[in-house]
Amino acid sequence: MTPQRRDELTREAQATLRANDRGGYTVPTAGLYPFQWDWDAAVTALGWITFDEPRAWEEFRWLLKGQWTDGPQDGFIAHIVFHERSESYFPGPEEWGTPKTDPATSSISQPPLHATMLRWMWQRARDKALAAERLREIVPAIARHHAWWYRTRDPQATGLVMTIHPWETGRDNAPSWDEALARVPRATRPYRRRDLDHVDARQRPTQDFYDRVVYLMDFNRAVNFDPVAIAREGPFRVIDAAIVFILHRATTDLLALADELSIAIDAEPLRAAHARTAAAWPSLWSRAQGLFANLDLVSGALIDQPVNGGFLAWYAGVEAPAQANTLAAWLEEAPYGVPSTRVGAKTFDAQRYWRGPVWQHMNLLIETGLRECGETALAERVRASSLALFERSGFHEYYDPLTGAGLGGTTFSWTAASWLWLQG
Ligand code: DGY
Repeated sequence: MTPQRRDELTREAQATLRANDRGGYTVPTAGLYPFQWDWDAAVTALGWITFDEPRAWEEFRWLLKGQWTDGPQDGFIAHIVFHERSESYFPGPEEWGTPKTDPATSSISQPPLHATMLRWMWQRARDKALAAERLREIVPAIARHHAWWYRTRDPQATGLVMTIHPWETGRDNAPSWDEALARVPRATRPYRRRDLDHVDARQRPTQDFYDRVVYLMDFNRAVNFDPVAIAREGPFRVIDAAIVFILHRATTDLLALADELSIAIDAEPLRAAHARTAAAWPSLWSRAQGLFANLDLVSGALIDQPVNGGFLAWYAGVEAPAQANTLAAWLEEAPYGVPSTRVGAKTFDAQRYWRGPVWQHMNLLIETGLRECGETALAERVRASSLALFERSGFHEYYDPLTGAGLGGTTFSWTAASWLWLQG
């Protein structure tokens, strides 16, 4: 890539974040996603820290305005915080029907990237005084969020937290959830999707998917958001290897940050949960795929679908030499990797959201993990793919792994942020 193209992309990325800034939080992209999303916010803050440090910390402060503080759900951070009204998205706050909080939120969470992104931001921040001040405020709230995950999503202390909604995995329509979701009834009430006002239907989840995820949203409301009932009777309960790895890595980073900055948190239960997870993840290994896989808690079966979530093992610090061969093979098959579903799998669809397309923030996490585990050559290949996509197509929501064409939303915040972070 020429230095001119590099500078142009950096200018565009900064302009994208500025355009998506709503005065303290960043929308993923205008229209399609008009609120603040949890894991988007964490990645987007990485972009802000490269050129506006005070603004980067604000992203977390705004996300935490939606944190729940009461009873059994203490520490919960929602996957959407509805800071403002908007008619351009379904489902909005009334659909979720969550207890009255200000701002209103959804009733499910999302992959808990926060502590890791915060630690990376701390390491890169130039204004250490400001960073320390913000972290003293943010880290205890994130510690409560980790406690929420371990307490409500692993009530039997197995070491593997469960996920109760495909939207909670962040990788909504990954083929991994097909079978588990097929058992969930379809919602019969009328509703109108808004996503198709913004994006071609061939790039979005199907109607059947929406009917079932709406049913799951309504189920949470019907049981009054009781985490015990959800964990016991929820119609969709899976172990998502990606969430397990992301939470594990984040707990490592949370404990390290608290230690380094002498921030008081309730560390002992987190350490114990962390140790349980490290003992439990070998059960997620899929010999068929040569990859860490997901588990269906309702049927008890390992979900043998070739999806990219398992490649976050390195990010969690897991040495996975057999998986390195698998990733190398995937990269041979996809001119622009890492595809979200393996090219050639029966379930692969090059354009449909999480059933094939490449997501740049996933590439960033996978690459970082590989590098930290000494898999330098593979890390370089993933980075080369990411750079080729940025150069060819700019900052889309996701990309076709075969052609490199940009798909989904445009001028996308976490994609722009991933570029800025990669530039160092
Ligand atoms: C959507 O609406 O597609 C989001 O991914 C849900 O969080």
